Amino acid sequence: MAKTQTLNPDSQSISRAAELLSAKRLVAFPTETVYGLGGDARADQAVAAIYAAKGRPSFNPLIVHLPDTAAAQRYVHWSAQAQALADAFWPGPLTLVLPLKAGHGLSHLVTAGLPTVAIRVPAHPLARQLLQAFGGPVAAPSANPSGRISPTTAAHVLAGLDGKIAAVLDGGPCEVGLESTIVALDPHPQLLRPGGATGAALAQVLGLAAPGLVTDAPSPGAQPENITAPGQLLSHYAPGALVRLNATAPHPGEVMLGFGAVDGALNLSAAGDLSEAAANLFDYLHRLDQPGVAGIAVAPVPDHGVGLAINDRLRRAAAPRP
Ligand code: TXA
Ligand code: MG
Repeated sequence: MAKTQTLNPDSQSISRAAELLSAKRLVAFPTETVYGLGGDARADQAVAAIYAAKGRPSFNPLIVHLPDTAAAQRYVHWSAQAQALADAFWPGPLTLVLPLKAGHGLSHLVTAGLPTVAIRVPAHPLARQLLQAFGGPVAAPSANPSGRISPTTAAHVLAGLDGKIAAVLDGGPCEVGLESTIVALDPHPQLLRPGGATGAALAQVLGLAAPGLVTDAPSPGAQPENITAPGQLLSHYAPGALVRLNATAPHPGEVMLGFGAVDGALNLSAAGDLSEAAANLFDYLHRLDQPGVAGIAVAPVPDHGVGLAINDRLRRAAAPRP
């Protein structure tokens, strides 16, 4: 394929990106969480191309991106709990897994044959403009090769997928920096992946005692055949270099990724701010993951609030590789 085109964030580029999607081509675009690799969710050809570009196993289903709640209701059986969460968190970093409606029209490749689908209404203005301009459901996993660090800049997208996709819409760095929180609602609320919206905030909206939402917390060792969210793949978000957690100083050959008072070559947040750390996490892993670096030693990150999602990603980055 020809070189991937970088589109600047203007109205002409949004139209161009929407045209490419209509032609069943792939376009990476910014969301507030990470960059997504978008394709027409109704077109087998486009969805198959997403799996191929990422080298993603086809048993791992995709999130469908929509402009608003009304659009979401066309594809899934809606509920009072879905409405409460949508009111509180959409547009934003929350993905809802709900039962598919008959005649939904989505490619069966999007759902990997499941009776449910994951849907999300992103908040990023460029994502919203693109969804409006395209006028249909956009399937979009994170725009990185499968199993590697998620992209939070257009440069990260190109580093992994240049030449494999038609275009990337450059919207600068992502504000949240971690993927969306994924919640299944049927038969009961279940946190499938911690993320930008915290479990405590979700529990509060649902009137459940925090952390009561997490009725079946995914275990890091879950096997692929039990997968309901990507976070359950043990080795995920992996840089080339080995990752060592809860480090206070680097070993020989390692570079140090700091947090708070534990400093390093880069510091996720010198002030100890977890949102700042989340926004920096993938970018700093990308930056430290250089040829010749044997390992990345990571300072302890507190395990509360969005720190839970940060530590989830770090554990997977540190897990033994397949
Ligand atoms: O923030 C995000 O969620 C980003 C942006 C681009 O929206 N997307 C993202 O997609 O992280 P991805 O593919 O890397 O992770 C989404 C995961 C899938 O891997 C899958 O395991 C889970 O969502 N998922 C999708 N459909 C599901 C379903 N029906 N039931 C349970 N989990 C599902
Ligand atoms: Mg991903």
